[in-house]
Amino acid sequence: MKIQDYHEFLEEILIPEETLKKRIGELGEEISQDYEGRNIHLICILRGGVIFLADLMRHLKVPHTIDFMAISSYGLGARKTTGKVRITLDLKEDIHNRDVLLVEDIVDSGYTIASVLELLNTRHPKSLCVCTLLDKVERREIDVPIHYRGFEIPDKFVFGYGLDIDEYYRNLPFIGAIKPDLYNPEE
Ligand code: IMP
Ligand code: MG
Repeated sequence: MKIQDYHEFLEEILIPEETLKKRIGELGEEISQDYEGRNIHLICILRGGVIFLADLMRHLKVPHTIDFMAISSYGLGARKTTGKVRITLDLKEDIHNRDVLLVEDIVDSGYTIASVLELLNTRHPKSLCVCTLLDKVERREIDVPIHYRGFEIPDKFVFGYGLDIDEYYRNLPFIGAIKPDLYNPEE
């Protein structure tokens, strides 16, 4: 497969690098204040959230640990969530009695976060909050609590800064929107 230049997909840059940096700094500040005196256990859902996690944690002034889990919500080429998620990689550590902060790249329909929260709650953390970089509010189908939100974005398929188009382009330093004719491909 030949990887095309991202300019062929890019409709517009929705959030430039500098804007991301500034907002993530603010989120780090806010989270540090809220969790003062406590330790945070950050849980990142692979793979989209890794770049956000890596940047966010460097703005935290409170002690924190990290762990990862992976779930599958999309098939390759599909642009819509199914409403069902499957755990493909579970956490390494027990979260019982810990202050857990879930770090996500994007909340769309809300099904992913809803299922993950339901699952994590069965393990009885002391607290469980959600931090998402992006929120596609218009597309929400199930109500989910979001405690920290980087940006509200319109109903566009986005990529870059951890988010992929069929697994590629996660390295781009900005959030870009894909051209609308490529948003809901027939496959
Ligand atoms: P939800 O279950 O519909 O809320 O979908 C959340 C997941 O879908 C995210 O964690 C992403 O992996 C993926 N996703 C949703 N929208 C986008 C997008 O615009 N670009 C890339 N991935 C997305
Ligand atoms: Mg994700």
